[in-house]
Amino acid sequence: MPERILQWKEEYSIGEEEIDSQHKRLFEIAAGAFSIVSPSERAAKVKETIRRLVEYTRFHFDEEERFMKEELYPHLDTHKELHEEIIISMNAFMRRIPEMKIQELEKELAFSIQSWFIDHITQKDKQIQAWLQKKRRFEGLLEWNEEYALKYEPLDSAYKAILPETKEMILAREETPKQLLARLEQNLIQHYRDEEAYLQSKKILTPEHLLAHKKIIDILQNLIKKMRFNDQNMLERDLALFFQGYLTRHKHSLLMNQESLSISL
Ligand SMILES: [Fe+2]
Ligand SMILES: [Fe+2]
Repeated sequence: MPERILQWKEEYSIGEEEIDSQHKRLFEIAAGAFSIVSPSERAAKVKETIRRLVEYTRFHFDEEERFMKEELYPHLDTHKELHEEIIISMNAFMRRIPEMKIQELEKELAFSIQSWFIDHITQKDKQIQAWLQKKRRFEGLLEWNEEYALKYEPLDSAYKAILPETKEMILAREETPKQLLARLEQNLIQHYRDEEAYLQSKKILTPEHLLAHKKIIDILQNLIKKMRFNDQNMLERDLALFFQGYLTRHKHSLLMNQESLSISL
């Protein structure tokens, strides 16, 4: 039983060499507890293995947390808490060793390895992988590009902020796509109202500009309607493309007014 449990499987891989090799090392150390030794040495062997396991686990968790931090993984805090719980459970196990019989010790160790390592890797560390893959799919998307600049500071800085915020929101997936789009729609409508009022006060609001706003809202509302037919990845991509299109279209409509804009500012 333990031999099978402690066998590394490709499905445990999270696609990050460094992390994978540390996970493999954890399995190797744990396997030491079940190597064949004389009966008199068994208890000492198991204890020594657990001690090494705790030590290496601490090192691995620190490394994994550093990695998540560097990658700006949004669920770092919750993941850290899970690591702490594992360390607490390992320490509690260590404290109980003196009062446990060897058979009991081995059985419980095999059981604990399942939850400390296998369950944690396949359920929680795997989420880091899923997030990283998504993050890579978004590389280059929803990023500010100097081409979008309207050379009008208040609007440019609003877009510069909106892009990374939206990206973060999509990547963290803290809202359902439906909630996200509904919020986006509301924000956009409000933003256009403010902008139109401002342009109006400067007497530079044109019907073309109003129409451009309406078109963008239409595209977003169509996206919302289409949503139930789209799978998650398609939706994220559509949303990213919507934003790119939104910025370029919007720039186009503002450019038509740029002359008057710069005169009146
Ligand atoms: Fe982890
Ligand atoms: Fe891990």
